[in-house]
Amino acid sequence: MNTQLAYNKQLENRSNNELKLAYKKSQLFNKLVNKEESIAVVGLGYVGLPLAVHMASKFKVLGFDINQEKILQLWNFQDPCKELSTEDFKNKDITFTATERSLGNAKLYIVAVPTPIDKYKMPYLEPLKSATAMVAKHLKKGDCIVFESTVFPGCTDEICVPILERISRLKLNEDFTVGYSPERINPGDKNHTFTKIKKIVSGSNNEALDLITSVYESVVEAGVHRAESIKVAEAAKVVENIQRDVNIGLMNELSQIFNALSINTKDVLKAAGTKWNFHNYFPGLVGGHCIGVDPYYLIDRAKKFNIRPQILETVRKTNEGMVDFIVKSIKKRLWIKKPKEKVTILVKGITFKEDVNDVRNSKVVDIIKQLKKNDFEVTVEDPQANPSEVLDHYGIELSSQKTYSKPFDVIIMAVNHKEYQCMDEVVTMLTPQGFLFDIRGTFKHLVPKHRYLTL
Ligand SMILES: NC(=O)c1ccc[n+]([C@@H]2O[C@H](COP(=O)([O-])OP(=O)(O)OC[C@H]3O[C@@H](n4cnc5c(N)ncnc54)[C@H](O)[C@@H]3O)[C@@H](O)[C@H]2O)c1
Repeated sequence: MNTQLAYNKQLENRSNNELKLAYKKSQLFNKLVNKEESIAVVGLGYVGLPLAVHMASKFKVLGFDINQEKILQLWNFQDPCKELSTEDFKNKDITFTATERSLGNAKLYIVAVPTPIDKYKMPYLEPLKSATAMVAKHLKKGDCIVFESTVFPGCTDEICVPILERISRLKLNEDFTVGYSPERINPGDKNHTFTKIKKIVSGSNNEALDLITSVYESVVEAGVHRAESIKVAEAAKVVENIQRDVNIGLMNELSQIFNALSINTKDVLKAAGTKWNFHNYFPGLVGGHCIGVDPYYLIDRAKKFNIRPQILETVRKTNEGMVDFIVKSIKKRLWIKKPKEKVTILVKGITFKEDVNDVRNSKVVDIIKQLKKNDFEVTVEDPQANPSEVLDHYGIELSSQKTYSKPFDVIIMAVNHKEYQCMDEVVTMLTPQGFLFDIRGTFKHLVPKHRYLTL
């Protein structure tokens, strides 16, 4: 049986409503391709903007964000996240707007708003709920909404769909459909970019899945994986980050043990890594808004079902505890070498990871705060972070100096930005008793062993 016949047979077996919707959907993809209809991307951050711009190479796209300042920058083809260059906006059919009513023109909506945690480390869903409500106000028969924000399994069905139905007075899978397609981009990584990462897609029914598959397949060279359900796709996303959290947590625990035993963890991992099935993970700070946040979404979900996720909770505690461990290690060393004098510390890098300008949930900030609480004189620099953003968010003034007139007692190599690849002069920036704390453990060769601390 050829594909068209098989498809017709499949359609015959479906209910009338579904049939009507399937007809509309296949039409919708064609209309999107022919630019008779458009796609709206809601939320233009690290995830939404690259997605919108790539979609705009094939489709007519409306990029919507509530942040008007961001929209002004985008009108000038400036990406505030610095992930895209001006060149990337060229020949793209995209309009940026902060005007909500423009959303009414779209037929396919993709929502990529933040899903952080609150101060109790519980999922904070207000941005997702308000973006969903905004889309709901403009929802029309035949529309499809795809969520890309990272959530717990069940969130689309239990939180988003009821908002859409209540506000639009339309019915899921009769009047509109939904889908979920988690984002896997890795900010700062110029190799694994949007088009090169396989995309997981899912839909509320087969027609939605077909439509979403076709749309993403049009722009993602690596192709798509059709998940069995929306819940499966939601769970897959959190599991990807949880697996990293757990493995980094293991390395962090090992690094504490090896520090006590005066063994260099990186040397151990290098040796162990010669076994064919040893996985490469390294100790370090787990900040940012993915690995350090997403596990809490599943932890919360598990608890609602009376399951205590002990491994996940312990790992979070271990990884969160690395700030304390680093500060204590520095203090312990200082007590031995420099009991009473005023200690000067230079922190190199403040962003949550290397080669990004994103300072949200940076654990380096927590280290700086603790060091300052101990009355140390702390100088902070970062070649990639935005100084006014750091000042506004954290009250930390970034040093703009390239060289320093006085040496430091401690230099903390906190973030391995590309600008720090050549650090040969670091030993000359230290006092005679001074030492380097190299969080990522890559500058061992620069200072004598007795002046080198790492995880
Ligand atoms: N950043 C990453 O590396 C990454 C990777 C994979 C998945 N994710 C997930 O993707 C989602 C988005 O993350 P991000 O890093 O792009 O966030 P972000 O903070 O960089 O961007 C979110 C954007 O949404 C806008 N916004 C907030 N509320 C809005 C609303 N109601 N309507 C329209 N716009 C609104 C904000 O102004 C902001 O520009 C989150 O769920 C995150 O967990 C992020």
